Amino acid sequence: MLPPLLPKREQYRCAPAHIGRAFACAAVCGAVPLAANAMVAGHLPSDVPIGIAALVALALSLSIALIGMLIRARALHRINSELQRTRDLAAHREHERDLAQQELIRKLESERELAKEKMQFEAQLSDYEKYASLAQLALGAAHEINNPLLGILSHLELELAEAEREVQIQSGDAHRIASEERRAEILQCIEGAKRISSAVRGLLNYARPGPLLISKISLFRLVADCINFVAHQPMFRGIELTAHIPPDLPVITADANQLSQIVMNLLLNAAQATIEGGRITVSADKVKFEEMIELAVADTGQGIPADILPHVFEPFFTTKRGKGTGLGLSISQAYVRSHGGDIRVESLPGRGTTVRIRLPIRQEGRPLLESDEEVVV
Ligand SMILES: Nc1ncnc2c1ncn2[C@@H]1O[C@H](COP(=O)(O)OP(=O)(O)OP(=O)(O)O)[C@@H](O)[C@H]1O
Ligand SMILES: [Mg+2]
Repeated sequence: MLPPLLPKREQYRCAPAHIGRAFACAAVCGAVPLAANAMVAGHLPSDVPIGIAALVALALSLSIALIGMLIRARALHRINSELQRTRDLAAHREHERDLAQQELIRKLESERELAKEKMQFEAQLSDYEKYASLAQLALGAAHEINNPLLGILSHLELELAEAEREVQIQSGDAHRIASEERRAEILQCIEGAKRISSAVRGLLNYARPGPLLISKISLFRLVADCINFVAHQPMFRGIELTAHIPPDLPVITADANQLSQIVMNLLLNAAQATIEGGRITVSADKVKFEEMIELAVADTGQGIPADILPHVFEPFFTTKRGKGTGLGLSISQAYVRSHGGDIRVESLPGRGTTVRIRLPIRQEGRPLLESDEEVVV
C-alpha cells in the first residue's frame, strides 16, 4: 500500500515493485502447470521424476518472487529517502520561515524603540528650549535681585546687632519687650532675605552651572562623606540611612562639588518625604556592558503622585510650600546632564521613591584638575 500523501511521481516510481510482485505471482501460479504440461507433452526426459520437476519449477518461481521482492525493497528504499528529503526540505523551510519571522519581530521592535527614542528626544529638546529661554530670563532677573539683596542683608545685620545691644542695655520691662520684638522682626527679615538669596543663587547655578572641575572621585567616599554630614541633622532622626556601594566600584571622573550637591539634594528630598522608622538607601554599581555607573537614592517615604511626577524637574516646582524653592531636582538634573548623564525618578505613592542617576565613568576630552594618580574624594 502506498502512503496516502505520496505525490503522483512517487506512485509512478513504485510501478516496478508492482510489476515484480505480479510477475512473481504469475510465475508461481504458472510454474507447476507448465512443468506438468511439459512432462505430459514429453518435453522432459521420461526418467526425470515429476517431483523433481515440480521442485525445480518451485525454485524457479521462488527466485523470481525473490527478485520481485528485491525490486520492491529498492523502490521502497527510494521512496523512503525521497520522503525523508521532502521532510527535511519542509523542516528547513519552516526553520527559515521562523528565522524570517524573528527577524521581522526584531525589526519591528527596533523601529518601535527608535520611534520612542525620537519622541523622548523631541520632548527633551522642547524642554531644553523652554528652560533655555527661562534660564536667560532668570539670569537677568537674578543679577538685578542679587546685588541690592546683599546690600539689604548687610544693612539688616547691622540693625540686628543694634537691636541686640538695645535688648541688653534696656532696664525697663516695656522698653526691653519693645527691643526684643524689634529684634525678632529683624531676624524674620534676615531669614526672608536669605531665602531669596539662596533661591537666586540656586537659579544662577541652574542657568549657568559653570565649567566642570573634573577630578578622580571614589563614590564610596563621596557618599560616605555626604551621609556623615547629614546623618546627625534633626531631619534624619529616626530614619535608617545606609549606603551599599561596592568598595571596588571604578573610580569615576566628575566634578566633586556638583556630585556632592546632587547627592545632598537627593538625601534631603528623601528625608523630607520619609517619616520616623523609614529607610533611605544609597547604592551604586557599574552598568553592565556600558562605561557608566548608576547611583540610586531610594526612600520608603510618601512617594510622588502620578500627576506630580512629570513636573518634579521643572525649576521652582515644589510641593513644600514656603519650605522649598523647587530647585533641588532641576539643578541636579542640570549638573547630571552637564556630565553627559541622565537622571530618572521612579515612585509609588505610599511606598517610596527612587532617584537613579547614570554617569559616564570617564569625562572623555575634559582635562583633570589633579594629577592622574590622585583620587580627591
Ligand atoms: N524623594 C522624594 N519623595 C517625595 N517627593 C519628592 C521626592 N523628591 C522630590 N519630590 C517632589 O519633587 C518636588 C521637587 O523637588 P525639588 O528637590 O526640586 O524641590 P524641593 O525639594 O521642593 O525644594 P528645594 O529642593 O529647592 O528645597 C518636591 O517638592 C516634591 O514634591
Ligand atoms: Mg529638594
